[in-house]
Amino acid sequence: MTRAFSSDVKKVTVTGGAGQISYSLLFRIASGAFLGPDQRIKLQILDLPFMQDSLKGVQMELHDCAFPLLDEVVYTDDMSVGFKDTDYAFLVGSKPRGPGMERGDLLKDNGKIFVGVGQAMNDNASRDCKTIVVGNPANTNCLICSHYAPDIDKKNFTAMTRLDHNRALAQIALKTSAKVTDVQKMIVWGNHSPTMFPDIKSTTVDGKVARDLVDRKWEEDTFIPVVQKRGAAIIEARKLSSAASAASAAIDHMRDWAKGTDEWVSMSIPSTGNPYGIEEGLIFSFPCTTSNGEYKIVEGLDISDEFSQKNIKVTTDELVSERNFVEHLLK
Ligand code: NAD
Ligand code: LMR
Repeated sequence: MTRAFSSDVKKVTVTGGAGQISYSLLFRIASGAFLGPDQRIKLQILDLPFMQDSLKGVQMELHDCAFPLLDEVVYTDDMSVGFKDTDYAFLVGSKPRGPGMERGDLLKDNGKIFVGVGQAMNDNASRDCKTIVVGNPANTNCLICSHYAPDIDKKNFTAMTRLDHNRALAQIALKTSAKVTDVQKMIVWGNHSPTMFPDIKSTTVDGKVARDLVDRKWEEDTFIPVVQKRGAAIIEARKLSSAASAASAAIDHMRDWAKGTDEWVSMSIPSTGNPYGIEEGLIFSFPCTTSNGEYKIVEGLDISDEFSQKNIKVTTDELVSERNFVEHLLK
């Protein structure tokens, strides 16, 4: 029997297409892991001029997979081609950090990349384009990108904290000998940096309150720092930053946004100031649910306790200082 595929083709742009993350991400997108098993896709892959030979090889391998959903693969160093009418943008292209660096140290070099990307998106992308910024420091790069794309709704620009969310799920599952699917209502607040606040106050494991299953000392002295510093631990072990897990988290973030989920997921989105009083405009990670292509912050959580307030303040202050650092780009 012949399979029926969608009559429309969604255009998906990936920047940094010759890099590590993209080498996993592109093949998962093309296989249907992002938009499902029926949606035909055109990939528009961008990288710098000197990476075009390498992109040619990636295109060859994508062809060689004979993915049924993959209509066309274009690779280019021309952003007006790469972002042409794009429906979804995965902004990966930027430098990764090496051992001993913090993600914020990348702001000077990577921040300016997102000026040009934002402008090119404003001129070329679909007005409904949904964007995830993966390149670090992802939250502030996202702020810059959105600033340079004033004709696209700010709510369409998001940054990735789903990897941190997934790491937190995995640590709780390992600690309680549960399956990751049993762990619900996880939250990562704030910045994708060591100041992020992985919060299990609301978390349940197989319906039981997580804080009844793990003690506060383990939560504060082990769980939170392990999640906060997981990126550095991967770099230390691999001598390269996380790639397959980052690609997988990017797929999770964009799939859930496009297709919907009742699960709580952590997404860095532009704060409107509501409902938790986070300064308006910061790209801040909140607990969200998604439906009909929209995300919605989970409301009504009690974060008035001293521990939550202290942790949320630290990560908010860091995002404000990153924004101040790139103030000259936000004029
Ligand atoms: P990589 O060095 O393997 O690949 C990056 C690619 O981006 C390279 O091919 C490079 O040529 C390209 N590039 C650089 N500047 C570009 C530009 N202006 N336009 C288009 N392409 C450009 O790096 P990687 O391991 O794939 O990581 C990419 C980024 O993702 C890094 O900033 C890394 O820190 C970040 N990251 C974020 C998360 C997260 O959770 N948010 C997780 C992992 C990695
Ligand atoms: C990660 O969290 O693995 C990435 O942001 C890479 C890094 O620099 O930590």
